[in-house]
Amino acid sequence: MRLDKFLVECGVGSRSEVKKYITNNEIYVDGVICKDNSKNVDEKETLVEYLGRKIIYKEFRYYKLYKVDGYITATEDKKEKTVMELLPEWVNKKDLFPVGRLDKDTEGLLLFTNDGKLAHELISPKKHVDKIYRVILRNEIGEGEIDRLEKGVDIGGYITQPAKVEKVNEKEILLNIKEGKFHQVKKMLKAVNNEVTYLKREIFGKLTLEDMQPREVREIEKEDIL
Ligand code: URA
Repeated sequence: MRLDKFLVECGVGSRSEVKKYITNNEIYVDGVICKDNSKNVDEKETLVEYLGRKIIYKEFRYYKLYKVDGYITATEDKKEKTVMELLPEWVNKKDLFPVGRLDKDTEGLLLFTNDGKLAHELISPKKHVDKIYRVILRNEIGEGEIDRLEKGVDIGGYITQPAKVEKVNEKEILLNIKEGKFHQVKKMLKAVNNEVTYLKREIFGKLTLEDMQPREVREIEKEDIL
C-alpha cells in the first residue's frame, strides 16, 4: 500500500495533511525520513513513525456513526444514498460494512466494522444485545399498550420477545429490545394501533451516542461494544 494511503487509513490525517507531513520530513519509514508519498508500505511489517509515535495498522476496525435521515443501510445502491457516504475520508473503508440495519428515515447509532465474527455475534438473537430506541408516536400511548409491548406483540406471525418501555411523555417512549427483526419497532407500534413518526437508536450494546452530533463518526475499540 502507498505510504500516504497507509497514513490516511491509520487516521493520521486527511490525504492533504499526510502529504504535508511527508513533505515536512515528519514521517519515518524503517527509521529513515521518507519523502516519497507513493513508497510501498507493508501494513504488518514496515515500521512507520510520526512524531516519534509508531503508526499501527489495525486488522479489525470499529466505528460508530450518528446516522441521519435519508441514507439506506447498505454498502452500495444504484439509486439511494447509502450510509457508507456518511463516512469521512479518514475512515478505512476496506471491507467495512454496517452491523444490523436502520431504516432510511431512522436516525442514531450505527456500528461499522470489518470484523465479521463480532458482527455475527451482535446480530444473533441469542446474544441478547440491548438496543434502545427513542420513539415519537402519532397517538398518545396508554399503560395497556405499554404492557402489551413489554410482554410481546404479534408483528405478522412473529411474537416479539419481552421488551422494556420507559414512557417519556404521552407521545414519546424509550423502547429497549434485544432482537432486530425487519422494521421491528415500527411493526410493534403498529400492533398496538399506533404509528412511529420519528425513530432514533440511542444505545447498541454498550455503545451510546454520548455527545455526538448528527453525522459524526468516531473510531472505537472492540471492548467498547459488548
Ligand atoms: N426498527 C424499525 O422499525 N426501524 C429501524 O430502523 C430500526 C428498528
